[in-house]
Amino acid sequence: MDPVTNPYSPGAGRPPVALVGRKRQLEAWDIALRRIASGRDAQSMVLYGLRGVGKTVLLSRMADIARDAGWLVAQVEAKSAKSARDMVGEALHDALVDLARPGVGGRILKALKTALSFKASYDAVGTWNFGVDLSGAPGGGADTGIFEADLGKLLRDLSGAAAEQGVGLALLVDEAQDLPHEELIALCSVVHAANQRRDPMVIAMAGLPSLPRKVAEAKSYAERLFAYHTVDALTEGEAREALVQPAQVEHVTWAATALDAVAEASGGYPYFLQQFGQDTWNVAGAPPITESDARLGIATGFHALDTGFFRIRWDRATAAEKQYLRAMAVDGDQQSNSGVVAARLGKRINGLGPTRASLINKASSTPPTMGWLPTPCPPWLRSSSVRWIRDRAAGARADPACRIGRPGSPTDGWRRCGGEMMSNVGEHA
Ligand SMILES: Nc1ncnc2c1ncn2[C@@H]1O[C@H](COP(=O)(O)OP(=O)(O)OP(=O)(O)O)[C@@H](O)[C@H]1O
Ligand SMILES: [Mg+2]
Repeated sequence: MDPVTNPYSPGAGRPPVALVGRKRQLEAWDIALRRIASGRDAQSMVLYGLRGVGKTVLLSRMADIARDAGWLVAQVEAKSAKSARDMVGEALHDALVDLARPGVGGRILKALKTALSFKASYDAVGTWNFGVDLSGAPGGGADTGIFEADLGKLLRDLSGAAAEQGVGLALLVDEAQDLPHEELIALCSVVHAANQRRDPMVIAMAGLPSLPRKVAEAKSYAERLFAYHTVDALTEGEAREALVQPAQVEHVTWAATALDAVAEASGGYPYFLQQFGQDTWNVAGAPPITESDARLGIATGFHALDTGFFRIRWDRATAAEKQYLRAMAVDGDQQSNSGVVAARLGKRINGLGPTRASLINKASSTPPTMGWLPTPCPPWLRSSSVRWIRDRAAGARADPACRIGRPGSPTDGWRRCGGEMMSNVGEHA
């Protein structure tokens, strides 16, 4: 069918046509906004989950909801190249421009002036011009150079400006596990102080499963400061909805058996669902989408994952890590035991500690899409990764039938190689 009208969106942060299965988190966000808007306090949120489960699109939806309610919103992605000061300042610019109107109240003028001082604290040459006279306004002072003090002052004055408009201030931080420890401490302190003053402000942070631990290490009270929400793979019913709803928009239907096939192959993992949905659509001749369309779409989708998603992770692994992963792959969909893996490699368990730690760390602290198998690894990701690793081992046996990318059957090679892989483990660095 026409790829131009294809309604699926595999990728990073690409909003799906149907954002399904996130009712609980969105309800919590909605309640927080409504509590704050009615002068009550609300807990800020931490969202955590594996790569590709949909944290960014959920965070963006939350930002849109706040914007639609007229809130001041800043959405940032923590990056090692930029400081949080810089990111928050720049992310607020558009909201500040919207605030700046002739005749606005004193708290808004104060916030604008404080924002200018915050901007000056990280940008010596650039400045903002809001087109309003701030010469007689109070405010400023968010340029001491102490991040916690400056961020606190900025968000306090902005909350005041938001309150003057009958709304609140929302700060959303993606990839928050990459925030430096000191910035995480500052953020927690600022939220804590804002809660005590009942400032109309809420923060949502999204990140990998390591985020709750990092937040807890930043401040001991963080476990009570935030409401923690996991972002997981979708249930079977939700996975079907994620396929059906976008197609409905284009007046296309799926056969029930086709839905079963894609829902099962994806394990409910949103990124795989979008990939297989997209490929199934593209290979299908005409609606309705049949099971054989789905089977071909899944095979094509796995091929795309093999050359992108898995390839990138594999290439980032060291020789020792690849060896370790191959030894883990023997366990198929089951969790691996470190002692058993060490025995397979003929090594002592202690000697493999750094390799194992580095694999775990890559899953939790590398930039987007670079992670590898998390621990514990959910079955849907594990089985796909295991299949891929076995393919690599199989390819080394010089059996063309075992290589991925074989025309027509990119995903079947490993199955036919089956138990032979056992004997390969550890041989190919
Ligand atoms: N609830 C959902 N329903 C349907 N599709 C979704 C859902 N959530 C995410 N997706 C799709 O899954 C893919 C990954 O989403 P996203 O980039 O938000 O994941 P992520 O958790 O932020 O990943 P990363 O940790 O790598 O940044 C996108 O293609 C997106 O369209
Ligand atoms: Mg993301």
